[in-house]
Amino acid sequence: MEPSVEDINNILVVGAGAMGSQIGMLCALAGYNLSVQDIDENMLEKAQRQLKSRMARNVEKGRITQEEVDAAFERMSFTTDLESPASRADFVIEAAVEKLDVKRDIFAALGTTAPEHTVLATNSSTIVSSRIADATSRPDRVCNMHFFNPALVMKCVEVVRNPETSDATVETTAELARRLGKHPVILNKEISGFVANRILGALMDEAISLYENDIASFEDIDVACRMALGHPMGPFELMDLTGIDVGYYVRMARYQESGDPEDRPAKSITEKFEKGELGRKSGRGWYTYDEEGRKLR
Ligand SMILES: NC(=O)c1ccc[n+]([C@@H]2O[C@H](COP(=O)([O-])OP(=O)(O)OC[C@H]3O[C@@H](n4cnc5c(N)ncnc54)[C@H](O)[C@@H]3O)[C@@H](O)[C@H]2O)c1
Repeated sequence: MEPSVEDINNILVVGAGAMGSQIGMLCALAGYNLSVQDIDENMLEKAQRQLKSRMARNVEKGRITQEEVDAAFERMSFTTDLESPASRADFVIEAAVEKLDVKRDIFAALGTTAPEHTVLATNSSTIVSSRIADATSRPDRVCNMHFFNPALVMKCVEVVRNPETSDATVETTAELARRLGKHPVILNKEISGFVANRILGALMDEAISLYENDIASFEDIDVACRMALGHPMGPFELMDLTGIDVGYYVRMARYQESGDPEDRPAKSITEKFEKGELGRKSGRGWYTYDEEGRKLR
């Protein structure tokens, strides 16, 4: 049976972490019945606490009414049980920990439990769905549905088809993204990093190269990106925000996979990583921060 967005009433989000909790809230706010499942009871409680306080702030700021928030929470349930919400789900978004074996086990279970028409989508940033689809008996109804962090705010969702994904699966996933208030970007082929993060990576590489070749200071490169290109923050400010260690590990993993010295982390990044200057979280990276994470210089 082909999937269709018109058949979607019940959505299951697997994983209640940073991404899963906000994706779940988005679905409930858009009027869907929503189950969030996690193996860790504490994560489910934390997700509810954080969503309640985030929504309370949005009510205070007049972005949404209390009635809309209450109605959304009434449509949501939080559970450690996978089987019963999976058996009712018309669409599943998996946002569990970024480990291939965990995702394959989840998809194998979903493949046997979820109704035939149900699309099984993964929010993974780095694992393309062809590496998971064969754990199910429905690879044509599997794709990446990649939200950006924070999912309640960021307006883009990348929909990535694997070689077996059907047109109906892509259309259903893209239309669901629209109904959640997002702008879908469809990738016709799998590629690591997808579109947005590949472009960001190229920008970061160029910014670091300009700095390491002493063409301009990192502060001025940030100014150029903000003032000439209209970016909300410069590449060095962004590295401090996401964590210099995160970028370091991504490049180390790529280098270990390819063996290409070009893929190694840049010299200036390695130096900062080794000194423990990881950005905002350590109080110092490219810039220096106070205890509240405010930039000092
Ligand atoms: N954090 C980001 O910026 C970001 C952005 C886009 C996509 N993603 C992707 O979203 C996914 C989740 O990332 P996150 O940052 O929310 O991670 P997180 O560590 O905040 O949350 C992961 C959750 O998965 C749960 N989990 C582990 N094993 C499970 C299982 N077998 N069944 C159900 N739940 C399980 C954990 O208990 C945890 O609550 C990853 O695939 C990641 O690549 C992350």
